[in-house]
Amino acid sequence: KIKKRQASVLVVGLDNSGKSTILNHFKPDEQKSIEIVPTIGFSVETFKIKNLNLTAFDMSGQGRYRNLWEHYYQDAQGIIFVIDSTDALRMVVVKDELELLLQHKDIKNRSVPILFFANKMDLRDALSSVKVSHALGLDSLCTKSWHICSSNAVTGEGVREGLEWLSEQIQ
Ligand code: GTP
Repeated sequence: KIKKRQASVLVVGLDNSGKSTILNHFKPDEQKSIEIVPTIGFSVETFKIKNLNLTAFDMSGQGRYRNLWEHYYQDAQGIIFVIDSTDALRMVVVKDELELLLQHKDIKNRSVPILFFANKMDLRDALSSVKVSHALGLDSLCTKSWHICSSNAVTGEGVREGLEWLSEQIQ
């Protein structure tokens, strides 16, 4: 008998990157939000990917709430880092936030897999996932298992593949 496993993932990224919109795809139809509003603090969603019961902590990306992220690092078995690929101006802010995450004591010495979504791929100004990964210096991130997917959180394109990668890393 295959037992369902339980894991917690932390969903981070700047405000407006698309975190809540991505998670909305995994909610059962009757719980899906029609209108996504900015997250205050954080919200918790639970859903199933293959054999894994996931609890996702959807953290607000607004500047004033970003200091909450680190309190959840310790218990996270996976990280989802969402990037607005059209927001070239704030790519340096994304890089700074990622640097802080990677250097944090509760992340640095653990093998926690990181899934990046280069989100909003449908928009004309979107950078490719290759460009986003260059901008963030992911090529030199050799101490962690990581993966980047282009995604369109509105249609769900790319979202499930990403989550399947992450759940395979966690199993
Ligand atoms: P915070 O809660 O403020 O941290 O934001 P968030 O990262 O949860 O972003 P949210 O899911 O609220 O999405 C922000 C806006 O971007 C919403 O208006 C979404 O409809 C829009 N959006 C999200 N993903 C995509 C995408 O892939 N393509 C397009 N065109 N719009 C998107």
